[in-house]
Amino acid sequence: MKFIAIARTLAFAAAALIAGAASAEASGGTAKHPEHQHWHFSGPFGTYDKDALQRGFQVYEAVCANCHGLELVAFRNLGQKGGPFYLESCPAGVPDNIDCSNPNDNPIVKAIAANYKYKVVDGPDDSGDMFDREALPSDRIPGPYANEQMARAANNNALPPDLSLITKARHGGADYIYSLLVGFEEAPSTINIAPTQHYNPYFHGDLSQNLKPEFIDEHGHPREGIEVPVGGVLAMAPPLSDGMIEYGDDSPQTVEQYARDVTEFLMWAAEPKMEARKSLGVMSMIYLFILAAILYWSYRKVWSKVDH
Ligand code: HEC
Repeated sequence: MKFIAIARTLAFAAAALIAGAASAEASGGTAKHPEHQHWHFSGPFGTYDKDALQRGFQVYEAVCANCHGLELVAFRNLGQKGGPFYLESCPAGVPDNIDCSNPNDNPIVKAIAANYKYKVVDGPDDSGDMFDREALPSDRIPGPYANEQMARAANNNALPPDLSLITKARHGGADYIYSLLVGFEEAPSTINIAPTQHYNPYFHGDLSQNLKPEFIDEHGHPREGIEVPVGGVLAMAPPLSDGMIEYGDDSPQTVEQYARDVTEFLMWAAEPKMEARKSLGVMSMIYLFILAAILYWSYRKVWSKVDH
């Protein structure tokens, strides 16, 4: 009886899975598979490339921050261990009594906060008014818009998502964000899109309604030989262009490099403790391996005097 009950539960679970997959299929969207990239942070020993994180933050501030917030990240996080601007010891010229490994005292982080392109809204003051002030390391990174309505009004009613967790929130993760940023293309000639929309084969969409009338038959289906293009249209124009940001090192100033760097930075923003997590994993594996070796050795020892 018990067996039948378990078998039935399993069968239901399988049916639910298949139905789920079918309904995802039925929604009709398509997108090109993200380009697989080799990332410094992938694999069990992966770490972030600190230079890439610094450049990525530069790209975020210069470009993405015009439209996207990063509301879960505080300036001080940038100076935490593993962060883009972490300092083990102070640079020359900083007084001895300052501990630069403390992100609140890290001079780079302080300067970034104080010179950030947006001020922090604070208050109310004594007369009840809100006021702008320079950011401190303890502040969250201020975003471009005061509220969602403002964000939509500035972007043809589309809402630029907060980027704090975006690499975790999208299927394909870092590969997807990178592919999206470098993947904008001229819209295929078979479709019509609004001037405020931008075609991107990596963006999940359904362009069957965008086919030009001459490519549709009387039943509303694509004419023979006409394929609905993969991908979708989004309200973000291609944000990056070659040479738009001047890097302090000799990395190439290309769309691909900007996209890689900002993606690595956004990956860090979403998972700043990844390095600690991975090294804990590796240490646990070593521990288990040694434990297994000792157990095996003692097993041999304990049973060595018994005939078999
Ligand atoms: C001029 C404003 C603007 C700039 C600059 C901009 N974006 Fe966007 N972004 C948008 C808008 C608007 C959307 C929402 C698009 C939509 O849903 O149609 C968006 C959407 C996105 C998405 C979500 C795509 C998805 O799968 O839903 C990502 C990721 C993204 N932007 C990353 C970036 C990055 C990284 C940068 C900087 C290199 C950047 N954006 C610069 C306006 C902008």
